[in-house]
This record gives sequence, C-alpha cells and structure tokens, in this order.
Amino acid sequence: MDIRERLLGAFRLRFGTNPEFVARAPGRVNLLGEHVDYNEGFVLPAAIDQVTLVAFRNSGSPTSTLQALDLGKETSFDCLSILDKQDSNFTGLSSWARYPAGVLWAINTQGLDTPGMQAVFASEVPRGAGLSSSASVEMAFGVAWEKLGGWTLPPIELAKIGLKAETQYVGLNCGIMDQFASACGVKDRLLYLDCRSLDWQTLHMPENAIIVIADTSVRRSLADSPYNERHAACEEAVRILQEFLPGIRALRDVSVEQFHRYASRLPEMVAKRAQHIVDEIARTEQAVELLENNDAVRFGELMNACHLSLRDLYEVSCPELDTLAALAQSLPGCYGARLTGAGFGGCTVNLVAGQAVKAFTRDLAAGYTQKTGIQPEIYICHAADGAAVETI
Ligand code: GLA
Repeated sequence: MDIRERLLGAFRLRFGTNPEFVARAPGRVNLLGEHVDYNEGFVLPAAIDQVTLVAFRNSGSPTSTLQALDLGKETSFDCLSILDKQDSNFTGLSSWARYPAGVLWAINTQGLDTPGMQAVFASEVPRGAGLSSSASVEMAFGVAWEKLGGWTLPPIELAKIGLKAETQYVGLNCGIMDQFASACGVKDRLLYLDCRSLDWQTLHMPENAIIVIADTSVRRSLADSPYNERHAACEEAVRILQEFLPGIRALRDVSVEQFHRYASRLPEMVAKRAQHIVDEIARTEQAVELLENNDAVRFGELMNACHLSLRDLYEVSCPELDTLAALAQSLPGCYGARLTGAGFGGCTVNLVAGQAVKAFTRDLAAGYTQKTGIQPEIYICHAADGAAVETI
C-alpha cells in the first residue's frame, strides 16, 4: 500500500471520518553551497520526489490532534499550550511534536488564523539523513494551516515561518535553505537562492546528467550535533575580521583574497571553518556559470572539492560518507560526489551521466557493502515541485 492510502486509512480509523485535504511537502538535496545559508551565501538545492504527507481536516475546536503514523505516536495541543512547549495535558511536547507546534507558533506570531486540526502524517523522507525531513514536516503543516486558516502567503514567506519555527522554537540555529527548497521547489529544476536578499531563480540541470542520492545509513540528530557550534565559529570569524574589514556583516562579504590576507588573525579552528565558507560561496557562484554552459565535468569537480572542504576544513563528514563519496568518484560516468546537507552522517549526492546510472548504482551499492557490511539505499532523484495542498 502506498503512503497516501496508508495515511487515509489511518485517518479514518483514528477520527472516524475522511480527511478534507492532503498536504504534501518535499525533502531536498543540495548540490552546492553547503553550510553557507546561515552565512548569507548562495545555495543550489532541488526539492526531491520524496515527501511528507499530512491528511487533515478542521477539528471544529481550538485543539489540534496529530498522529505521527511512522512513530505510532500522537499529541494534542493548542495555541496557548504551545507557548510553554506543552501539550493539552500540560506535559512537555516530545521532540517530533515541536516541528508542527513550532510552525503553529510561528504562524500565530504573524497574527494569522490557525484553526485546530485533526491530522495524520507520515513521511517518505528518511529522518536524520540530510534530506530535510524536518523542513518537509514544517512546510507540509505550513500549507495545511494556510488552507484551514483561509489566508495565503508567497511560498518564500512560508519558508521564513518554517525557519522561525526551527531556530526559535526547536532550537537549531540553521539557515533558510531547507524550508526554501521544500516550499519553492520546481519540477525538473535546480534552485539558486541568494540567502541574503532571498532572490531566487531556477536553473537547468546539465544535459544528460542525473542526480543520484546514496544513503550511508548512518543517522544523526542535528539538534544533538555540533551544528550550532559551526554556526558560532562563523560568527566569531566575522567578529574578528570586522576589525580589519569594518564593512562586513557576514562571511558572504569576505572575498577569498581578503580571507587569506587576514586568516592568520583568526584562531586556527575558526580559520578552518571560515575558509570552507568563503571558498564554498565562491564555488557556488562559479557553478552557476558552469550550469549555464552545460559543463557537467567542471561542475562535478566543484562537488568533489566541496566534499574535501567539508571533510578537512568544516569537519562535518564521517568515515562512511568519505567511503561512499570516494567510491562514487572512482566509478565511470560520475562527474562529482559529495556529502549533502549538514553532514555527520546521512547521504551523498552524486552527479552521474545518464547512460552510466544503472552500472553506477549497482557498483556503488556493491562497493559500499563490501567495505562496510551495510546495504545502502540508493535513489535516482527527480527534482520536484514545492509544498501544496490537494482537496480529497
Ligand atoms: C541543514 C540546515 C540548513 C543548512 C544545511 C547545511 O540542512 O537545516 O539550513 O545549513 O544543514 O548546508
């Protein structure tokens, strides 16, 4: 049974009636521009065809009751209880419930109406795999409340609501890339976002190049990872560099040449982190030209360079990600391979020539199993549209 059927069946079982709507929001894969969104740089993600689905209807009361089908758990809360991160029984919200509750809270801070809902949700986006399962949950509930509330916001504004939920409610000091890709995705296109101005455009994939996602099976929770520490190191770099470059506001404002001029003034660790950011922003800007010229070969080289930088300078890789990326890079038809998303586990993204994809996925899986004993999930990825609601 597919996820939609399971969801509808579970809704009827739990609430004794049909849902009125189904909201769907995709995960994302990022091709270049890793960890630069919170440094006001440029990112190059695509929404993917794995989604979170929410079957829902108006509850007729201020209380929302949500069932997380994948977890076999349920919660109820309302606009007041969530102010203290509590459910309707005045018990602390569990971590999974903080994402929808955080979205509700962030919408309310804008004075928008959020009727209570009955909902069952489930996701095809693997959790903790670097494919933005949390942003897909946030954006699916974002469009669900938009529907019930009877208001409409441009998708980028919904992304900002998701970001507010994640940073101020859940407590991960992330950037806007994931919520943006999940809200604004466009079928068959890469998205290019300026994380400072929030201007964005779509770009074509290189001709005959396919995105393949490979999962190490190593899981992490970003909330318990050193993600916030990385963000803090970038802020420290800006504070110190401002002494020499008073006009800068973020690492986005520091050129590669300026960075090398002042790098020795930074503590060693901070310099490594900042160097990744400055180089990665330059790589992403360069990538746009390469895409316009349909140059998959040089684009892939930038992906490989990005992996090394994430491994050695930003230090967010792990042995399994390094193994999977190196294996991929050694296979015929692979333009580039690197870890995608925050790191610390999760997936690699690979750019592969169309005619080589079949052998590539087979050999990558076999090679990884031989080296680690783990059978990796491998997906051919089709860039997809952003979050939307359908009426049942
Ligand atoms: C996570 C965050 C994003 C971004 C990536 C790394 O997915 O949610 O904002 O920082 O890590 O590029």
